[in-house]
Amino acid sequence: MPEVRIEKLCTDPELYIIRVDDDRIRYFEATWDIPEGITYNAYLMKLKDAVVLFDTTKAEYTDMFMETLKKLADPKEITHVIVHHTEPDHSGALPKLLEENGYKAMVIGTTFARNLLQGFYGNKVVENFRAIKDGEEMKIGGKTFRFITVPWLHWPDTMITYVVEDKLIFSCDAGGGYGIPETIDDSDEKVIEEYLPHVTKYIVTVIGHYHKYIVQNINKLKDLGIVTEARMILPGHGLAWCRHPKRIFEYYERVGAGIPTKDKVLVIYDSMYGFVEGRMGIVIDELKKLGKKPIVYRFTDREAPAVSDILGEVPDSEAIIIGASTYEAEIHPRIRYALYEILDKANYEKPVLIVGAFGWGGVAGKKIETLIARSKFDLVDTVESRGRPTEEDEKRLREAVRKLVEWSG
Ligand code: FEO
Repeated sequence: MPEVRIEKLCTDPELYIIRVDDDRIRYFEATWDIPEGITYNAYLMKLKDAVVLFDTTKAEYTDMFMETLKKLADPKEITHVIVHHTEPDHSGALPKLLEENGYKAMVIGTTFARNLLQGFYGNKVVENFRAIKDGEEMKIGGKTFRFITVPWLHWPDTMITYVVEDKLIFSCDAGGGYGIPETIDDSDEKVIEEYLPHVTKYIVTVIGHYHKYIVQNINKLKDLGIVTEARMILPGHGLAWCRHPKRIFEYYERVGAGIPTKDKVLVIYDSMYGFVEGRMGIVIDELKKLGKKPIVYRFTDREAPAVSDILGEVPDSEAIIIGASTYEAEIHPRIRYALYEILDKANYEKPVLIVGAFGWGGVAGKKIETLIARSKFDLVDTVESRGRPTEEDEKRLREAVRKLVEWSG
């Protein structure tokens, strides 16, 4: 059952997290399988003469959110609502919050955010909207709030807030991840280790299409000096980074840049009647002989892994091997979809080997080659032939794997 957790993060300033743990969701953005669930984090800061709310939550959890918020403050006391990003997983409860607030709070965000909020929720929510410029500072409750735009992390509307005196970064989607961590913050290494793969999956599926902006925007924040000095990084999903805040942005940078884990090779294939599988058995055997660690996802008449999980494996792979059947003069539909999403969301400079099997005509290999040629991936070789693999096929497959491994260094 979804629940709301509340925890005081610090006393000076008085700061709370209001975390909605959504274990009911199955498909984030109606697309990405997340059996691990997700959290939506809002933060409330109580200052001398101001009460500031940073983001809200998803609309379906509005009542739970409001009930919990009221344990901390009367909604009428809220003087400022900072909207870092308008995607409704963070802004869904804003209309109700403002209604209970009597529309007194100043709503702060980018001009882009204003237009989106108006489109999503109508004119009333933007009546008291204050659009900020990149780098603009505002004094609120005796503190300096600096607003920094980070476009495409994850929408063009997105910004972060830096509270200068306290060195706090409120980063919304940036620094977030899927999953419902046991702890609120990064105080437990075991929790972090379990959580980080969900972060990779989140980055690729949600921000992956814009992954070059991850590195670009984090560099922008680094150049401003605020990452090094940050006391906390407080994202809109997952763990709050209170102990080692830099760690999450460093992790984001590595995923954004596609830094490989030594020897990891991602192997994806379909096999309807075992012909592709016969080839992939040879490929996997050769990879292991060469000291590589294949991570295998296969679509068969008994298995259909989640494409979101496959996407999460791409950034830190050294190389990728795609095995596909030709199906109605096309790439097998499951591989076609997985490949389409990889090229859209996880488009990295990594070597690729294509392996194909066909009955009366080989088409999948050529079609995958065409798609790879338009991407950042480098095609190392294509090995495609009819029916079950022959001795000659085995020789060619082993050679192609050796070539791939050499290529990936
Ligand atoms: Fe968590 Fe882009 O919203």
